[in-house]
Amino acid sequence: MNEEYILVAGGAGYIGSHTVKKLKDGGYKVLVVDNLVSGHEWAIKGLQFENADIRDRARLEEIFSKYDISAVMHFAAEIAVPESVQDPLKYYSNNISGTISLLEVVKKFGVKYLIFSSSAAVYGIPESGSVKEDAPVKPVNPYGETKAMVETILRDCGKAYKLNYVCLRYFNAAGADPSGEIGESHNPETHLVPLILEAALDKTPLKIFGTDYSTKDGTCLRDYIHVNDLAEAHILALQYLKDGGKSDIFNLGNSKGFSVKEIIKTVERVTGLTVEASFNPKRDGDPPILIANSEKAKSVLGWEPKYDNLEEIVETAYRWAKSKKS
Ligand code: UFG
Repeated sequence: MNEEYILVAGGAGYIGSHTVKKLKDGGYKVLVVDNLVSGHEWAIKGLQFENADIRDRARLEEIFSKYDISAVMHFAAEIAVPESVQDPLKYYSNNISGTISLLEVVKKFGVKYLIFSSSAAVYGIPESGSVKEDAPVKPVNPYGETKAMVETILRDCGKAYKLNYVCLRYFNAAGADPSGEIGESHNPETHLVPLILEAALDKTPLKIFGTDYSTKDGTCLRDYIHVNDLAEAHILALQYLKDGGKSDIFNLGNSKGFSVKEIIKTVERVTGLTVEASFNPKRDGDPPILIANSEKAKSVLGWEPKYDNLEEIVETAYRWAKSKKS
């Protein structure tokens, strides 16, 4: 058992809560810090918890004084691409000001390790089908801008202070923990897999955004990765830093692209239900294709996604979606 705490900012959210569960299962002491604006109390039942907004520096200092913190995992952020286009200041305030406030306290208390939730959104519209970490960083929406800016801030802080960090660029997180205790629950939900499941279960139509992209069937291609595989990468990244690994950036995806229509078909197959879909204009800021090359995470961190087929990912998400209804 490790004696020091891993502070998980945004640990009551979707990817945060799955990582917290994995940390606990691995014997780590975990402190969740969350303002519960989009995170959920049910996701952190029985855990050490401090309710705080990371923009509140004084409150963070209080927390860092109270606990012996050896590392920070930073998930606390606004995450919806379309909303970021409509309300960029919300994103710059939460994702940038919040991170700066957190980093100031991390620096003050001499915390040496930080794992940051970055995103494939930093690549914008990539030039090649499968993206490597050295591809140009050119976000096409404010959400992606905030993730790219934090990566830059971390690069500079890493050079100037005794801070070692890993940025994990997630592709499209999906699925739920097989325990049925936690899963994806955003309000409003904007992500494709839970929306298709909702459409299937409630018999409401799903809106497909954009049907004339230059892809095989005209709808966007994304790389869907199980949330528990993302969670596992955080633990490997922390271990990597503790073993003396240098600050770095890693893609996390399954390296396979599925179109919106293919995801709908998979949901229909897995659930045995029918999904009614309507065709709608493109959503602002949506890149046509985003597929990861995750070889670096595999070779450097020893990461290997366990859910490498889409059916399994959808299956866990379906179980969770059904349990929310009962
Ligand atoms: N989509 C629809 N209908 C919907 C919702 C989504 O057609 O009702 C489409 C989108 O247009 C997109 C695809 O489904 O083509 C996936 O959309 P999501 O909203 O599920 O996910 P995004 O790809 O927009 O963004 C997600 C995360 C980001 C992350 C990005 C990286 O929300 O944080 O994946 O790939 F940056």
